[in-house]
Amino acid sequence: MRFTVSSLLLFGLLSPSRAVTVNHDLREEAAARDCCQTLQRQLGPTAVLFPGSSGFQQLVNSYYSRQESEIVSQCRVSARSAKDVSDAIKVITNTGCKFAVRSVGHMPWAGAANIAAPGVTIDLKLMDSVNVSADRKTVSLGPGGSWGPVYDTLDRFNLTAVGGRSNTVGVGGFTLGGGFSNLSPSHGFASDNVINYQVVLADGRIVNANKNSNFDLYRGLKAGSTNLGIITRYDVNAFPLTPKWGGSRGYNVSQGPAIFDAMAKFTGKLPKEPLGGGSVVWGYNEQMKNDTIFATFAYLGADGTQSKAELFSEMLDVPFNSDTIRTNTNQQALSDEVDVAFPPGLRRIFATLTFKVDTQIAVGVYEKSHEAFAGLVGKEGISWSASFQPISVTHLQATQRAGGTLQGLSPKDGDLILLNLNSVWVNESDDAAMQAAVRKVINWATQEAKKRNVLHPWLYINYALPDQDVYSSYGRDNIKVLKQIQAKYDNKNLLAKLWKGGFKL
Ligand SMILES: Cc1cc2nc3c(=O)[nH]c(=O)nc-3n(C[C@H](O)[C@H](O)[C@H](O)COP(=O)(O)OP(=O)(O)OC[C@H]3O[C@@H](n4cnc5c(N)ncnc54)[C@H](O)[C@@H]3O)c2cc1C
Ligand SMILES: *[C@@H]1O[C@H](CO)[C@@H](O)[C@H](O)[C@H]1NC(C)=O
Ligand SMILES: *[C@@H]1O[C@H](CO)[C@@H](O)[C@H](O)[C@H]1NC(C)=O
Ligand SMILES: *[C@@H]1O[C@H](CO)[C@@H](O)[C@H](O)[C@H]1NC(C)=O
Ligand SMILES: *[C@@H]1O[C@H](CO)[C@@H](O)[C@H](O)[C@H]1NC(C)=O
Ligand SMILES: *[C@@H]1O[C@H](CO)[C@@H](O)[C@H](O)[C@H]1NC(C)=O
Repeated sequence: MRFTVSSLLLFGLLSPSRAVTVNHDLREEAAARDCCQTLQRQLGPTAVLFPGSSGFQQLVNSYYSRQESEIVSQCRVSARSAKDVSDAIKVITNTGCKFAVRSVGHMPWAGAANIAAPGVTIDLKLMDSVNVSADRKTVSLGPGGSWGPVYDTLDRFNLTAVGGRSNTVGVGGFTLGGGFSNLSPSHGFASDNVINYQVVLADGRIVNANKNSNFDLYRGLKAGSTNLGIITRYDVNAFPLTPKWGGSRGYNVSQGPAIFDAMAKFTGKLPKEPLGGGSVVWGYNEQMKNDTIFATFAYLGADGTQSKAELFSEMLDVPFNSDTIRTNTNQQALSDEVDVAFPPGLRRIFATLTFKVDTQIAVGVYEKSHEAFAGLVGKEGISWSASFQPISVTHLQATQRAGGTLQGLSPKDGDLILLNLNSVWVNESDDAAMQAAVRKVINWATQEAKKRNVLHPWLYINYALPDQDVYSSYGRDNIKVLKQIQAKYDNKNLLAKLWKGGFKL
């Protein structure tokens, strides 16, 4: 709720220290109005949208989570080019208004990529072009693209890229945070495959960051979040397209430990042939009014039946209730199956942890989640799931081949399991209880993993709760390097002061 100055005075709530804040708020509001008017003068009326207009509403409705689409900014810059973003950042830093940046808006927590008035949101959703290079070795992606349409375009060139396992997820945030793909066991993170970033810096300059030019910025952006600049183009490696084999299987929940063990064995075999992807998703499904467990399978090639069967043998041996595995499918069809299970428009948060491979922890997370959500299940639209995703040694080796990472991950860590704890609800009045339940599970799992000596410190930025300390998890030396890069490219510390959302160094 927002109080006006007069109502605060009326209720006698305006203490001297409050007066300072309120004056500050008023100054901020005036600055924001000024900011939006100047933006509109500079960028033109179609590029700056205000609440109440259909253009504004359309963009806001396209956030993935309800919490993000409920936030109403002072105005929204609908950028169409790097120059628009550069013009916008100049106005914003001159005026001193606060801002947020969104590409496709799939980071679910409130304020990740949106900001309430008097803040301004820079929206890159319309910058969604896909340009394949003449030699077909690379592709330039606008940050506002979603992976499904990107794959559709690349199909026409018989190409693919290290992109999302969901069709709706965005190029921009996904790649900025790392990006786990079905191609990751062979090619590492999406960010390992970026050969050039086009970036708008704090002072509005549009620069390229790659191996030869602004190399420190290039390294930093692979672990950068909302600290170093706004990326307006990602030039990434393109790979030959192959038909896919895969799908998903549903199991009796009693098979949980067995399918998890089997996934661990599958992960251990990836060094022989890093062409497979798999995951196990374990939780409570509201539509089915029951616990469910399913596993996803993806193999990057329709041929090689023998090696594929060998790679997945333990997973394929677990008795199942339902099965969509087929040959000759594609990334989009596999992603559709994920998207059906993760529909947009609901209240939702993610939380994360990373473990060494350990079935006991997975079972524990499932059981503890059951306990933590017990009082909530049955209320409208509530469901939760724990998805366990292997980070194979082959992935970490690919990261190392690409130049390594400042995220504190190394092939020496061995095979790891990434947890995405996903919770969903519809009623705002359940926000606090859902968040408390999530925290209970994460706290328990952190302690338990420490006790069992299987905790890995790394927290994945794209799955983290807003207050999970992602940067500490990268290690002190890496933070130091990142802060040096930040100081070099934003020597007035403007982005740190004005840019809200994401994760801060
Ligand atoms: C249904 C679903 C499926 C998913 N599948 C996967 C998956 O397979 N693998 C995986 O690794 N992750 C996955 N994720 C997580 C996903 O990677 C993150 O949610 C990611 O941040 C989404 O990117 P976006 O552009 O849509 O998000 P946004 O919410 O627009 O952006 C995320 C953050 O990055 C910042 N940002 C965005 N674009 C830019 C830019 N151009 N310059 C500077 N800062 C920017 C924003 O300010 C924000 O803080 C999935 C999420 C969902 C909801
Ligand atoms: C793709 O090419 C068009 C036309 O040259 C250009 O306007 C656009 O910015 C390019 N997009 C990317 C992401 O490179
Ligand atoms: C893509 O591959 C198919 C099958 O090999 C081939 O017929 C087609 O010409 C290729 N298309 C392009 C654009 O290279
Ligand atoms: C699931 O497995 C348990 C234990 O084997 C069994 O009792 C139960 O009937 C099974 N449920 C279904 C729906 O198959
Ligand atoms: C949930 O699953 C269990 C075991 O698999 C089964 O016994 C029970 O009937 C199911 N409940 C509902 C509501 O379908
Ligand atoms: C939301 O929760 C409140 C408080 O529990 C309740 O009064 C309201 O009916 C709920 N709304 C919906 C749509 O379920």
